Amino acid sequence: MTVKNERAFNFNAGPSALPLDVLEKAQKELVNFNGTGMSVMELSHRSKEYEEVHNAAIQRLKSLYNIPNNYEVLFLQGGASTLFATIPMNFLTANSQASYIMTGSWSEKAIKEAKLFGNIREIASSKEDQYRYIPSIQENEINDNDAYIHLTTNNTIYGTQWKTFPDTKNVPLIADMSSDIMSKQIDIEKFDLIYAGAQKNLGPSGVTVVIIKKDFIDKANRNIPTMFQFKTHAEKNSLYNTPPTFGIYMLGEVLKWIENQGGLKAVSEQNEKKAALIYDVIDQSDGFYTGHAKKDSRSLMNITFRLQNVDLEKQFLADAKDAGFVGLNGHRSVGGCRASTYNAVPYEACKSLSEFMIQFKKQNQS
Ligand SMILES: Cc1ncc(COP(=O)(O)O)c(C=O)c1O
Repeated sequence: MTVKNERAFNFNAGPSALPLDVLEKAQKELVNFNGTGMSVMELSHRSKEYEEVHNAAIQRLKSLYNIPNNYEVLFLQGGASTLFATIPMNFLTANSQASYIMTGSWSEKAIKEAKLFGNIREIASSKEDQYRYIPSIQENEINDNDAYIHLTTNNTIYGTQWKTFPDTKNVPLIADMSSDIMSKQIDIEKFDLIYAGAQKNLGPSGVTVVIIKKDFIDKANRNIPTMFQFKTHAEKNSLYNTPPTFGIYMLGEVLKWIENQGGLKAVSEQNEKKAALIYDVIDQSDGFYTGHAKKDSRSLMNITFRLQNVDLEKQFLADAKDAGFVGLNGHRSVGGCRASTYNAVPYEACKSLSEFMIQFKKQNQS
């Protein structure tokens, strides 16, 4: 069972499905991009042709996401994991403090790096309940002296997602948005820094997107290596050194695809419908499937669920694989099942999965 052109039903958590139209366009342009007689990969990053690709991607991202002029969009490398360290390196010293909200394994990885640079507080956590929900933050938990507050907007492994963001007043809010960036419109001005690896909603792995307020860049430490300073990349339009040119080209094409879908409003409506297909099956299964996340914290990007026992889960994953569904196993640290329904996963793939789940239940319930 596959979608158009024998494409797999790809529910991978990342790298993950890319729009077929984008892949086909890239294929067409692979050996001769825009009459240059070469691939985008072979262009000099200092050439006019590449610069157009680069600047168009930045402009498109700004326009689709309504990013105000007092923010920079940067294309970096090293993945979100490098940013876990780069952020505290820029904004913390041994005498300053930041707060982290703990909603899963990626928050844990982020806080571990921050502890190397300054004083770190956990202000809220749902760890005691296996990260099933997004904790609420009380106003009196916000410390005015914090250099920043950090949160993870979508928890790829546990399948939870913030619906509204806390008001952190004058304390800069930083968000790891790796697994739900550009899945819906958000108010960028709530954040001083947003970062995300591109490989879920925006393109192939290799590009890390940073959206950062200009006056926040000015607050950063200067006594750190050049490549780790946000200022370096902001001043040079992310062309200080060789950027991941092909990844940025692909990202630009994915953004064009989002525009063609009708922009973020259309994409987010589609994401809601896709996720509802699968959550509805879980909710109407009389406990045959159980969702990991509490209902009000459910992610529209990563749907995590379990079956009644590990053997049945193994059977489900094996049968799903035979039926052409890829990537439905839960993260190796938590087990169970997970369907990642990022922007580029087609509605038909989610529909087919929901039908498969209903069928599997019929055949296997005792
Ligand atoms: C929420 C979140 N943060 C960070 C990461 C790590 O990203 P990278 O592999 O780009 O370092 C991931 C990867 O899946 C993630 O889902």
